[in-house]
Amino acid sequence: MSSYFKQLEEATKYIKDRITIKPTIGLVLGSGLGDLSDEIEEKVEISYKDIPHFPVSTVKGHDGKLVCGTLQGKQVVTMKGRFHYYEGYDLDKSVFGIRVMKLLGINKVIITNAAGGINLDFEEGMLMIITDHIGLFAPSTLRGENLEEFGPRFPDMTFAYDKELINLASSHINDINIPVKKGVYTFYRGPNFETPSEIKALRILGADAVGMSTVPEVIAANHANMRVLGISCITNMAAGVIQKKLSHQEVMDTTTRVKSDFIKFVKNILGEL
Ligand code: HPA
Repeated sequence: MSSYFKQLEEATKYIKDRITIKPTIGLVLGSGLGDLSDEIEEKVEISYKDIPHFPVSTVKGHDGKLVCGTLQGKQVVTMKGRFHYYEGYDLDKSVFGIRVMKLLGINKVIITNAAGGINLDFEEGMLMIITDHIGLFAPSTLRGENLEEFGPRFPDMTFAYDKELINLASSHINDINIPVKKGVYTFYRGPNFETPSEIKALRILGADAVGMSTVPEVIAANHANMRVLGISCITNMAAGVIQKKLSHQEVMDTTTRVKSDFIKFVKNILGEL
C-alpha cells in the first residue's frame, strides 16, 4: 500500500470518528457558492487544517472545511473550498478530498465551479450543466503510480459526466429564475485568466466555458467509479468576448447575485438523487 493511500485512510478515519451519518453523496462547492452548506442540517463541520494530511485552501472565498450532515433528506459531505492546480499542489493532493469521499462510501458527487463563458450564446449569471470536458492543458491527476485501490491504470472517460444525472439536472432547469444551458467545460491552469486569443482557440476546439478547477476532480472521481454531476456558474464572459477586463471580484459578485437560484437548483436535484 502506498504511503499516499495510508494518508487517505488516516484522513478518512479522522472524519468517520466525528460523524454519525453514512454519506452517499458528495458536493464540491466552488468560488462564492459555499453558502449551500449553511442549509445542511445536523451538521458537523471539520476544518481541513484539523484533518490529517488534508491540504488547506488558500483562495479568498474558499473557506476550507468539510460540512457533513443532511440536506434534502440525503446524507452528504460537502467540501467548502477546494484545491486548485494553480495553488501549487501536487495533483494527488488536489484530489485528496474526492478520494477521501470515496473511502467514506460516497459514490455520487456534485461538483460546482465558477467559469467564464466562451459560447457566445451564454450570458453572465447563468448556469451550465457540464456534459463533457477538455482537460488537455494540464497533466492528468492520475499521472504517476496507479492507485489500484481506486481503479484501473487507463480509466474510461466516455461518460465522465453521468448521463442520468445530466438528465435529472435538465429536468429542473425551469425551477429557477436564471437560464441553465448545457455545455463543455475546459480546464485552464491559471491563476492568470486566459488571453482573448486563447479563448478564441478554445471556442474552435469546442469549449463552452472555462475554469481553473473541476477537471482534476472529475478524473479522480471517474477513476474511482464515482458518478459525477458538474455544474458551472458562468460568472463572467471569458476574456475578449466583451471589451472589459476580468477580475476575481466580478466572479465573486456574480456568484453572490445568483447563489440563491444556484442553491435551489442543486437542492432540487439532490432531493431526487
Ligand atoms: N476563466 C477561468 N476561470 C474562471 C473564469 C474565467 O473567465 N471565470 C471564473 N473562473
